[in-house]
Amino acid sequence: MRPSALTLAPEVSEEELKALKESIFSVPLRGKHLEIGTAAGGTLRELMTGYDEPRPPFVVVDTFEYFPNQRAAVEKNLRDAGIDPADIDIREGRSWDLCRKALRDREKFDFIFIDGHHGANYVMKDLRWTRMLSPGGLVCLHDYKPDFPGVIWATERFLKQNPNYEKITHTGTLVILRKMREGRQEVSWKEVIAGEVFAKRLTMKKSLNKRLRRTKS
Ligand SMILES: C[S@@+](CC[C@H](N)C(=O)[O-])C[C@H]1O[C@@H](n2cnc3c(N)ncnc32)[C@H](O)[C@@H]1O
Repeated sequence: MRPSALTLAPEVSEEELKALKESIFSVPLRGKHLEIGTAAGGTLRELMTGYDEPRPPFVVVDTFEYFPNQRAAVEKNLRDAGIDPADIDIREGRSWDLCRKALRDREKFDFIFIDGHHGANYVMKDLRWTRMLSPGGLVCLHDYKPDFPGVIWATERFLKQNPNYEKITHTGTLVILRKMREGRQEVSWKEVIAGEVFAKRLTMKKSLNKRLRRTKS
């Protein structure tokens, strides 16, 4: 069982949560806030309760297969904090399927927190949501650390391809980027394919290393 399933706590550290709050509360972000991957809703709860009423609209995207009864746990966590889960637009499904629909519906977001599946191919696809990020809006990526090379690779590649974004902070394993102005459309299919290739290579490298270790012992 994931610890957050029992504690209902955020999966970001205290210092990362502080950095998140400082960044979003220092600018008036009134448009939709999106969290991709919510675990037990701990970070969601902290961000929502940090806002004075009326808070901006919150959207959550998750497959809800992280631990048993995950959605019920998230709703309990919110209710305990005085938040009615019905006030949140909770979308159940894979983030890239939901991204396609959101793009068709021409949605707009002021804040996007990417913390779903950490494989390079998944993170790259999640970054397509930034096509709907308004200028001045923030996109945050969690678990930017060597344990998750896919997050590092996708973040750095994204920054290189999109000079209209600036890195405003890197705290612990949390990276926060600001979209300074509109640029070319973020994350083409070529980028998505590059993510698939990187992830495949990484899997092959890991299994090769495992075999080598077994042969040596
Ligand atoms: C690391 S946890 C999120 C932690 C949470 N943001 C927090 O700060 O407490 C990852 C979450 O991503 C979700 N997830 C994984 N793959 C997904 C996908 N393809 N689409 C949507 N959600 C996904 C999992 O169900 C899980 O809830």
